[in-house]
Amino acid sequence: MKKAAFIAGLLLLVVACKKGAEVLPDLSTLFTGFIKPADFPDPVYDVVANPVSEAQFELGKKLFNDARLSRNNTIACSSCHIQSSGFTQHGHDVSHGVDDRLGTRNSPQIMNLAWNKAFFWDGGVTDLDLQPMAPIENPVEMDEKVPNILEKLRADSKYPGLFKDAYGTDEITSSRFLKSLSAYMIMLISDQSKYDSVRRKQAIFTVAEQRGYTVFKKKCASCHTEPLFTDHSYRNNGLAPSAINDLGRYSITLNASDRYKFKVPSLRNLQYTGPFMHDGRILNLAGVLDHYTGEVTDQGTLDPLLKQADGSLGISLTDADKSDLLSFLNTLNDHTFVRNKLFEP
Ligand code: HEC
Ligand code: HEC
Repeated sequence: MKKAAFIAGLLLLVVACKKGAEVLPDLSTLFTGFIKPADFPDPVYDVVANPVSEAQFELGKKLFNDARLSRNNTIACSSCHIQSSGFTQHGHDVSHGVDDRLGTRNSPQIMNLAWNKAFFWDGGVTDLDLQPMAPIENPVEMDEKVPNILEKLRADSKYPGLFKDAYGTDEITSSRFLKSLSAYMIMLISDQSKYDSVRRKQAIFTVAEQRGYTVFKKKCASCHTEPLFTDHSYRNNGLAPSAINDLGRYSITLNASDRYKFKVPSLRNLQYTGPFMHDGRILNLAGVLDHYTGEVTDQGTLDPLLKQADGSLGISLTDADKSDLLSFLNTLNDHTFVRNKLFEP
């Protein structure tokens, strides 16, 4: 619908509502382009050089949900990044790809990506526009080649027209294909949690949430930094090496001081995204807190913040601190994000 016609329609509805007849449409489902939340830092992704149009966003959304991106047309990006699970593969510790092949890592959230300097648990990819090549070509994920995908799209009755709407001509190139996926993904902004409302002075924390916030700022925020809840660094938070001995950041830099370091994940939407950690080894948040208080191990690269002056490892938290922290973490769940119709296929 053309914008003017839409606004006219909206005004009519408002008039109609005065008579108590109709219900106003949900404005959050309107495409607005990329808008930086006022209290977020400047994005890393160059949204000025790559403005997202509605046609590119819609094309990216269709591609993200299209199983033809995989070798045997069974796995879409959205198979492992499910909106209702905060764009993770809820319930799976490591990802499941074509032929139900298992990966080695937990699907991370696709959220607030425009602020990420690097992608994957080890930061192995630094350009969002190139990131989809990795899952597409990974034999345990989609096991396909981009030229094959482009052939499938060209043979489709709808895609050439959609590329024309998005880019002016119906040429289907790998750069247009990848740009469209980025256009969809950078629009997945989560900034409507209770925490955000409190920051914007539109709500207040309960007493327990406020106490939890105080503990959080003292014991967690150096790594899980507000308002994105990550400082985008790679750190070793003391998980014991697993059977496959994933060395994390070291596999990219080959620098011994990076062994067992992983990207600090955001803590938004944890209600939807479990299990937790790079290999999904911890089932729930109580388990995460138990890890920090009692299960931290030192493999030589443990973060200094997790070594106490008396030589003990981890973070000290009383049972009351833990309960308050859980209340605070609960305020980071953005229910409108996981249900936003704009993001749905
Ligand atoms: C079989 C499951 C699976 C499929 C299919 C899949 N992903 Fe992923 N995705 C993962 C896993 C697992 C990771 C983490 C990999 C790692 O850290 O090594 C990941 C990481 C990512 C990241 C990085 C997020 C971050 O914060 O670092 C992005 C972006 C992403 N995927 C987008 C996509 C897109 C786009 C597609 C489709 C072209 C896709 N994924 C298909 C499982 C999957
Ligand atoms: C020294 C930095 C550091 C501190 C301090 C820290 N974390 Fe973490 N946290 C990390 C890293 C790194 C990971 C990812 C580790 C991995 O998967 O290997 C992580 C993972 C998590 C996860 C899992 C998220 C997911 O999506 O899988 C949760 C939840 C979490 N931390 C909560 C907390 C809380 C609560 C505190 C304070 C009590 C805290 N963290 C303190 C660095 C830190």
